[in-house]
Amino acid sequence: MKVAVLGAAGGIGQALSLLLKTQLPAGSELALYDVAPVVPGVAVDLSHIPTAVKVTGHGKEELEQALTGTDIVLIPAGVPRKPGMDRSDLFNINAGIVKTLIEGVAEHCPKACIGVITNPVNTTVAIAAETLKQKGVYDKNKLFGVTTLDVIRAETFVAELKDLDPANVHVPVIGGHSGTTILPLLSQVEGVSFSDEEVEKLTHRIQNAGTEVVEAKAGGGSATLSMGQAAARFCLSLVAAMQGENVVEYTYVQTDDSDDAAFFSHPVRLGPNGVEEILPYGNLSSFEQKAKDDMLEGLRGDIQIGVEFVNS
Ligand code: 2OP
Repeated sequence: MKVAVLGAAGGIGQALSLLLKTQLPAGSELALYDVAPVVPGVAVDLSHIPTAVKVTGHGKEELEQALTGTDIVLIPAGVPRKPGMDRSDLFNINAGIVKTLIEGVAEHCPKACIGVITNPVNTTVAIAAETLKQKGVYDKNKLFGVTTLDVIRAETFVAELKDLDPANVHVPVIGGHSGTTILPLLSQVEGVSFSDEEVEKLTHRIQNAGTEVVEAKAGGGSATLSMGQAAARFCLSLVAAMQGENVVEYTYVQTDDSDDAAFFSHPVRLGPNGVEEILPYGNLSSFEQKAKDDMLEGLRGDIQIGVEFVNS
């Protein structure tokens, strides 16, 4: 199994790479790519950790070496938010970065599964899809927006509120990865009930958790460590699925469901070729149904911006 992290020297990239160095199956290869000159050093640093995962570092001109033979590509590259910014404010810089990296994927490892972390995820996943289509190598079953952070945040906050072990709390989160497009389905959390006020407050906190970190870091960026953990969990689930295990994760995929949006986070059964089956997200409470109805237009607009970016 070869995993490539594009943007490996950044805050998310380093945390993610550390987790993968210690948790990928023995015999795997981890290729770190970044335009920042420190990337070979990050690779040497990680290579001193005694696990049977081979780490290689690749600078600006070595995207081909990083990607050749890769099974899973994870893309956290780009700039993070500062206080007062929305994820969509990152579009001007990050859209071009994602397009360039995806062109590299299309050329050097067109059959790889791709996990997009770079914000605004609602839009960058559409950019990736359109870029792959232009190159004639798009496979909707192999492109994912990583929304696992919304799930782990929701599980943490519910466990805190209800004094539970977070390991036993499972919270479905559907939709997109920005503000109100993040829709936790608290009505489906097994064994836990919430008052209307708790549902409102928790939903708001989960939707704004990224901003909570941005404000706490006060200009120093956005979530890196929790995002590293979330992306590592997603990658390890994909690895397990590729090796034949039955794994379901919530992730932002192309659904072709015209009632929702072209891309929408669903529970997805993963398999050797990426998406094995997109599962239904079940019944919504009236609060959740209204929240979904209210955010769909915004999510569709975010996706359209990505489509137009590539095709204009
Ligand atoms: C977050 O939700 C960075 O988008 C990421 O914090």
